[in-house]
Amino acid sequence: MNSSANQGERLLPKHLAIIMDGNGRWAKKRFMPRSMGHKAGAAKFKAIARYCSKIGIPYLTVYAFSTENWKRPTEEVGALMGLFKQYLKDALEDLLNDDIKIRFLGDTSVFSSDLQELIAETIQIGEKRTGMVLNLAMNYGSRAEITRAAKSLAEQVQHGILQPQDITEKLLSEHMYTYGQPDPDLIIRPSGECRLSNFLLWQSAYAEYIFIDVLWPDFTTKHLEDCLHEFTMRNRRFGGV
Ligand code: FPP
Repeated sequence: MNSSANQGERLLPKHLAIIMDGNGRWAKKRFMPRSMGHKAGAAKFKAIARYCSKIGIPYLTVYAFSTENWKRPTEEVGALMGLFKQYLKDALEDLLNDDIKIRFLGDTSVFSSDLQELIAETIQIGEKRTGMVLNLAMNYGSRAEITRAAKSLAEQVQHGILQPQDITEKLLSEHMYTYGQPDPDLIIRPSGECRLSNFLLWQSAYAEYIFIDVLWPDFTTKHLEDCLHEFTMRNRRFGGV
């Protein structure tokens, strides 16, 4: 699915994805440890997610931790894990008020048992929610996701459940973490970097990209509104004319 949703008078993306980049540089500019940048980034994420839910964006995906982020110093990884736990604890309470359904993209089986328990509880509570779907991409990488899908399909062929000719784009899509969700319409990357960094490569075949030169902790709802406005001006043809 690649369509956009008409929410009242506005053309909003049905699925918005954000690469929350620039936390480290934000902290460095202030002579602070990188973990402080992530703390500021986490607060910003919470505010932006709430705003997206309020304005009626049906799906929001954020890149919180990539399969490559394990290479960072132990202290920084620890600080991020602490922020994830705190966010999920807060969200479990907030979810009682906020109608946000949290999902996870990525292999969460490698996280500590307490984080995994929080993840399981969050998914369970989210099942009853009908509002915005918030995908947290954690230990996520597109290549790992596509490899996992290929392995699963190969196993099904090996066991005679599938024939090679049964493998279609739709079937592959159904083996991605985003199964059942529309493809992202708009992907925003703050911080001035203009690359995809292994994020939603399969799903973003027809996504619009906006690279904005502001560090994630400095990203405001005004920046988001500007991006949403720019999105409405894009001429999306999906390979047609
Ligand atoms: C990239 O900035 C950001 C990350 C690797 C982590 C993103 C995490 C958060 C925003 C906080 C926690 C999120 C949740 C869901 C609670 P960078 O560190 O690569 O920045 P740099 O390029 O300036 O070094």
